[in-house]
Amino acid sequence: MRLLSPFLPVAVSLVLLSCSQSDPMEKRIDELIGQMTLGEKIAMIHAQSKFSAPGVPRLGVPELWTDDGPHGVRPETLWDEWSAAGWTNDSCTVYPALTALAATWDRSLSGLYGRSVGEEARYRRKNVLLGPGVNICRTPLCGRNFEYMGEDPFLAGQMAVPYIQGLQSNNVACCVKHYALNNQEFERSGINVNVDDRTLYEIYLPAFKTAVQEGEAWSIMSSYNRYENEYVSHNPRLLKDILKGEWAWDGAVISDWGAVHDTKGAATGGLDLEFGSHTNGVDVGASNAYDSYYMAAAYKKGIEDGTYSEEELNDKVRRVLRLNFRTQMGGNFGSMCSPEHYADARRIASEGIVLLQNKDGLLPLKGEGGKIVVLGENAIRPMAVGGSSSSLKAQKEVSPLEGIRAAFAGWNVVYERAYQGEPTVTGRYNYGLYDLTDPRSDRQLLSDALAAISDADYVIFVGGLNKNKMQDCEGRDRLDYHLPYGQEAVIEALSAARKDLIFINLSGSPVAMPFADKVGAILQGWYLGSEAGNALADVLSGAVNPSGKLPFTFPKELSDGPVKTERQYPGVQDENGRWQVYYDEGIYVGYRWYDSRDVEPQWPFGYGLSYTSFDYGKASASSKKMGKSLSFKIPVTNCGTVAGAEVVQLYVRDMEASVDRPFKELKAFEKVYLEPGQTKTVTLTIDRDALCFFDAAKHEWVAEPGDFQALIGSSSRDIRAVVDFRL
Ligand code: BGC
Repeated sequence: MRLLSPFLPVAVSLVLLSCSQSDPMEKRIDELIGQMTLGEKIAMIHAQSKFSAPGVPRLGVPELWTDDGPHGVRPETLWDEWSAAGWTNDSCTVYPALTALAATWDRSLSGLYGRSVGEEARYRRKNVLLGPGVNICRTPLCGRNFEYMGEDPFLAGQMAVPYIQGLQSNNVACCVKHYALNNQEFERSGINVNVDDRTLYEIYLPAFKTAVQEGEAWSIMSSYNRYENEYVSHNPRLLKDILKGEWAWDGAVISDWGAVHDTKGAATGGLDLEFGSHTNGVDVGASNAYDSYYMAAAYKKGIEDGTYSEEELNDKVRRVLRLNFRTQMGGNFGSMCSPEHYADARRIASEGIVLLQNKDGLLPLKGEGGKIVVLGENAIRPMAVGGSSSSLKAQKEVSPLEGIRAAFAGWNVVYERAYQGEPTVTGRYNYGLYDLTDPRSDRQLLSDALAAISDADYVIFVGGLNKNKMQDCEGRDRLDYHLPYGQEAVIEALSAARKDLIFINLSGSPVAMPFADKVGAILQGWYLGSEAGNALADVLSGAVNPSGKLPFTFPKELSDGPVKTERQYPGVQDENGRWQVYYDEGIYVGYRWYDSRDVEPQWPFGYGLSYTSFDYGKASASSKKMGKSLSFKIPVTNCGTVAGAEVVQLYVRDMEASVDRPFKELKAFEKVYLEPGQTKTVTLTIDRDALCFFDAAKHEWVAEPGDFQALIGSSSRDIRAVVDFRL
């Protein structure tokens, strides 16, 4: 059994290298295809192991190695199985989950993330890292929200591009996932998504389009679900017409693991590379059965007997060869778990933390040498493991308690559990097993916590979800919008004793916070990776001034949101027993919904506080009319005494339209760093596309002449300046 691809034979590397230097890549690819036998072509387009495809040894085309993604490089698995290979040298730097990255609203940090994780992937000899995920957060209950970039297509697309470019600058391909409409885990392996074209084009496709067109992603992952009653991996409309046709994309479509269901669909629907179908692919199928992959023996036979065209096969081979060329040529040697990578992870983590509430300037912590009581299971719980395929083996993971202890070394830091969730990790693929079982009853845990806090200077409760099954984890959605394990009652009891309770919520999805008014400060701490505890402590101590902004709305209650009926979520079974989900809310997803219905959320999209405050001056536009583009300038001043960063957001409002339009839509943003007292003029530029809606009848983007407004502000609900303009 082989576990990892061997070094590329030197001769092969030289052949590839010299070809690229003397000939255009496409010419070399054509030549290779001309030399390949049918069997060799077929072998190239399906897996040979859990995570690799074989290449063409005879012609020196190397194996192609993929790996999860997206928050670090997954440990090695066995050749044919999901189980860990048990290596001792495959632990990694764990980067913050993508929701935390999105919350930085900082494109340069996204580039840093991509470069940094790309160096780790390169070191581990991976050609393709399976990520980033840009599916839209449609419901807070989706089990994989934590792996995605929020509820807004523009934000998700903008934050994905630098990640992709940074990753690919290491000659590691990204595989943007999960294309498309994979917005829930319930029945993910076949549920059919019913969505109108306008909603598809305006909400669910743009981040993918930006990723492939601006980011120039080299591969994309076709999702498990169905669309138009056809599996996405067999779906000519999504894969051929839109992705490869309208978007003129030349990359390779890789199936999600086990997302292919028959040869005809795979051969003719637009898929290029098949993974995970058998050999325990998502727990079904024969072992050692690569020949029984849908794009293996059956496909070969179909070409031989004329059922399928060899031309179509050649297109798949060409796309896979591009992946080979793009990822085997040059690039650095990579590095793993370096001090620089930990510094990158810490910086991204601390800048992604969102300060949601800070009564009476409670944070940052003040004074010296007092008593801090840290409460809550999430203060001690490893979070790199869990969540399923994105689960990682951390070389180091600093827990919140450890981070606080390190940052507040001269203080008396006391820990009490306060509640018990699940003492072990129950999601799949857990590489760092642990047992946090506490023999005390819930009552005892709470009363011990209450006793500990009575004389504390500060009380910090670290709770939330935990990447266990149904708590931010692939494969199953959450069942409840409220915090699990009785945490609400625990927080109520603690806050009755201490109004200055500091609540740190670790989650990758919105959660209910009905207790918000009763506590002093609230931080949204996501899953922050290896440096989680240090990053949180940086913000608690004031070493870092928080500047994260929410990438999705936190409604007060789930019922306030757009997804209300059973057919909208989780879906209903049709007369044939097939699950159908209906996106009846259309384009009204996230803040677009809360704005249009004037529903006050708990915390709005784009919201986040700072230890300083920012004053917005008068905004001006480069013209009163939109030409090719239009720029807006607004001076922003740091009015406080500490340096800080502000995310200036620009939303466009169409004052009159022939169709229903959201009240406003995010179309530009910039993050600006300001010293105390400093003013900088921020420029935000939009083009005509920012004014468009998708006209489904004409199948084109339309910008209707008339009046528009640019709403510039600090969050979607804190608009500081309005500028009128016309098209
Ligand atoms: C997940 C993908 C992942 C793949 C390989 C699938 O179950 O949906 O996101 O990349 O497994 O682990």
